[in-house]
Amino acid sequence: MPVGRSASPGPVRNRRLRFSQPASASPAMAANDKPAVAGFSPLRVELGPRSYDVKFYDGDVAALARDVAAFCPERAFVVTNPTIRALHGAAFLDALASAGVEAVVAEMEDGERYKTLATVSSLLDRLIEGRFTRRTCVVAFGGGVVGDVAGFVAAIFLRGVDYVQVPTTVVAMVDSSVGGKTGVDHPLGKNLIGAFYQPRLVAVNLAYLRTLDEHNLRGGFAEVIKYGVIRDPALFEFLESNLESALALDAAALWRVVRDSCAIKAQVVAADEREGGLRAILNYGHTFAHAIESVGAYRERQFHGQAVAIGMIAAAEVARRMGMFHENDVARQRRLIERAGLPTVMPAGITPDDAIEHMKSDKKVVAGRQRFVLPTRIGEVVVRDDVPMSLVREVLSSLCP
Ligand code: GLY
Repeated sequence: MPVGRSASPGPVRNRRLRFSQPASASPAMAANDKPAVAGFSPLRVELGPRSYDVKFYDGDVAALARDVAAFCPERAFVVTNPTIRALHGAAFLDALASAGVEAVVAEMEDGERYKTLATVSSLLDRLIEGRFTRRTCVVAFGGGVVGDVAGFVAAIFLRGVDYVQVPTTVVAMVDSSVGGKTGVDHPLGKNLIGAFYQPRLVAVNLAYLRTLDEHNLRGGFAEVIKYGVIRDPALFEFLESNLESALALDAAALWRVVRDSCAIKAQVVAADEREGGLRAILNYGHTFAHAIESVGAYRERQFHGQAVAIGMIAAAEVARRMGMFHENDVARQRRLIERAGLPTVMPAGITPDDAIEHMKSDKKVVAGRQRFVLPTRIGEVVVRDDVPMSLVREVLSSLCP
């Protein structure tokens, strides 16, 4: 793994999911004063006429396909990648067919480097040549790259057609599939082209995580830890007690962390759909992460979670040095990141000056001032635009091996 020093991830044990029964609460959950797990009940993203459900499944692809079919009055245009198609495509397409949906599959290459206008253009060619209509439903079946690209295609084809998200990675389940951020990268920066365009449904099949490689699984947990730090001390405490069970795909633990993460995302998006204010808190760790991702080894999406982990370490340390965040909480966050097998220092090949230079072109720079999301306690963050860049440089230097 081309990253800086990190705690040894250790083996992921018990990768089998046992989803045949509704997940039941573990003793640690009960101790956390949270409701016991009660089946796979859906969440609602409340956005007036653009509201939609996030639904959860325990491997029941037939039920998932029936729910997707409700949004497919005509043909479905299923965007996926070769990896997901090989693993799950046949079962998903059979289930769609049984639910009465005629599906056309469009594969895009796997990886962030294909999140481009060229890919969008070739998908639009397929739609136009195939005479798809305004009643087409685009189905994003894959991870974050597939979801962002397919959502953007749906946003612009015939000035907008319906789409549903069927995420297959942790990052896509807890972050990118919910909230309607769609788009592609530009050679000068990530996510610079796109649209806010909400899906009609997010269909989360936790069983798809069974085939996710360990690196991606652990990377996804950076986003889960993020939700605990920004908004939910109970989720953070739950992770402190149950992280290894969740990483081992214990059904109850996994359900709890994915659902709670999605619930926070849904609340934040409902309050601030177009990132005029509150939604910026979802970028905790991401200002640093995007700078880290600008260097070679981290450019691929599969390192996003790892970059976010380092970004959260950096943001917490900036907050500590500004007297805003207690050192005990810095240590708690670090321990959780280490236990998740995520890196805590900058990768080789990036200097503090490189990172700071990159930050200047970040979308989040407002009136020339860099904005940072900084924690004040576990469960609360603030957005600050008065962080001295000299302090940022000092912290980055301390994280360079
Ligand atoms: N991934 C951050 C957001 O959706 O706003």
